[in-house]
Amino acid sequence: MRKKITIIGAGNVGATAAHWAVSRNLGDVVLLDVMEGIPQGKALDLLQSGPVDGFSCSITGSNDYKDTANSDVVIITAGLARKPGMSRDDLLAKNVEIVKSCSEEVVKHSPDCTIIVVTNPIDAMVYTAFKVSGLPRNRVIGMAGVLDSARYRTFLAEAIGVAPRDINAMVMGIHGDNMLPLVRLANVSGVPITDLLSPEKIDEVVNRTQHGGIEIVNHLKTGSAFYTPGLSAIEMAEAILTDSKRVLPCAVYLEGEFGISGCFLGAPVVLGSGGVERILEFELNDDEIKFLAKSVEAVKEQMTATGL
Ligand code: 2OP
Repeated sequence: MRKKITIIGAGNVGATAAHWAVSRNLGDVVLLDVMEGIPQGKALDLLQSGPVDGFSCSITGSNDYKDTANSDVVIITAGLARKPGMSRDDLLAKNVEIVKSCSEEVVKHSPDCTIIVVTNPIDAMVYTAFKVSGLPRNRVIGMAGVLDSARYRTFLAEAIGVAPRDINAMVMGIHGDNMLPLVRLANVSGVPITDLLSPEKIDEVVNRTQHGGIEIVNHLKTGSAFYTPGLSAIEMAEAILTDSKRVLPCAVYLEGEFGISGCFLGAPVVLGSGGVERILEFELNDDEIKFLAKSVEAVKEQMTATGL
């Protein structure tokens, strides 16, 4: 029996996620949007790439949640994207309404699904989906850490002059300027980056990672990144759909882990058929704890702003 993936929002991020989902033959895809014709046209275009790319799963576009019924994974990308001069927080008021209505429909048609939220500000939006859907915390996850860690790894690879795939590095915390690219644990096939880069260069890479989103918004002018966000959501979905026990940094609802309770925060989790099957807790040093506290404060402010 093929798996079923619903992607809500057929904009740049959603359509890119749909492309990666079918190209990896992850399962049958439903691309849903409120705009008539957009999901249908993009889905048909993607379907026709099957003979060239080699996948055999189906993809259909729809404006009706009934077509999403019994999905295994639902990826919520619907919402406004940032423009130059906007912070992710500026999107909150509008996008919380969108994610609320999506979440109500999702859980009505796919009560056993796992939700992956991409819409910004992600830490508040995944909290919105969690509260509105009523699903357990292991089945409502935010996509941010995979994207931020991919940027961190890219910039480190450039600085060190090695293949990006050989960089092991993780970003924790909020998906915002106070995100925490972990320096202490970053390495190149086990060789610590602190043995390979000067403190000044490491600071430069950390800073560029923390502002990686706005760097792209300022280039594009009309929107934000979508290739790597879309792929990052599919990386998470694939781990769930194939029960692969991948360890990926995701926005997860903490209940005491890392000494933090009652908020979503980016942390390393084991992803499998049960969604978040384990949160990989580890000892943080004093500086990391202090920096992470800034994330918690910012996320809790966002959560309050949702009014939920
Ligand atoms: C980013 O960081 C869109 O929040 C996303 O690019």
